[in-house]
Amino acid sequence: MDERLERYVSELFAVEDSILKKIRERHAAENLPAINVSPEEGKLLHLLLRTIQAERVLEIGSLGGYSGVWLASALPAAGKLITIERDPRHAQVAREAFRSARLERRVELIEGNALDVLPTLAPGFDAVFIDADKEPLPKYFDWSMRLLRTGGLLLCDNAFFHGAAFDESDRSGNALGVREFNRLAAADSRLVATIVPVRDGLVVGLKTRDDA
Ligand code: SAH
Ligand code: DHB
Ligand code: MG
Repeated sequence: MDERLERYVSELFAVEDSILKKIRERHAAENLPAINVSPEEGKLLHLLLRTIQAERVLEIGSLGGYSGVWLASALPAAGKLITIERDPRHAQVAREAFRSARLERRVELIEGNALDVLPTLAPGFDAVFIDADKEPLPKYFDWSMRLLRTGGLLLCDNAFFHGAAFDESDRSGNALGVREFNRLAAADSRLVATIVPVRDGLVVGLKTRDDA
């Protein structure tokens, strides 16, 4: 989405509080890649979780904890965000972000490769937010569908992947991963899904049934 539109929305809705702003500044100071969700995408994730009164949420790809704070702060005090991050330096910054937002009791950060961690998780998640490497996205789709409860939300960042999703000449592993994820989300009869054109595109799907 156009950056001016994003700024308009962010400013109008005073989307970011001082804690989130500080986390973003910390993130920049630590030279983490600036690929966190934007404030209005974060707020959309937050309000989607509140709409379904989510209590147990999974995130794949924590980075510095920016999206994680938006997600965890949407949960009740007894809720839990499990977030997976394979880079120890990112994980450290994320843990500090959760502490500074006083959300550490609501967040469990698991350090490791998502494909090693996903098989260890118990199903029944109210929502899964996928925002990590793009090549294994079809595998993340399958795991998410296995781990989500009926009525749960499938959320995935970078649906457009800077236009690569609909550039058929792009045969890179990343483009193929994103394209296949979107196709699966569109075609799977267990889901009602669409792409919200916020930032780089957010897949939003509702798992309406368990059987295929
Ligand atoms: N959700 C974050 C941004 C995530 S950026 C936010 O909006 O604030 C993607 C993150 O996924 C990076 O920190 C990267 O280290 C992590 N990552 C990439 N591949 C991964 C994998 N296979 N398993 C776990 N984490 C991974
Ligand atoms: C990029 C952006 C993302 O949101 C992401 O998850 C991965 C990569 C990017 O701009 O390259
Ligand atoms: Mg992303």
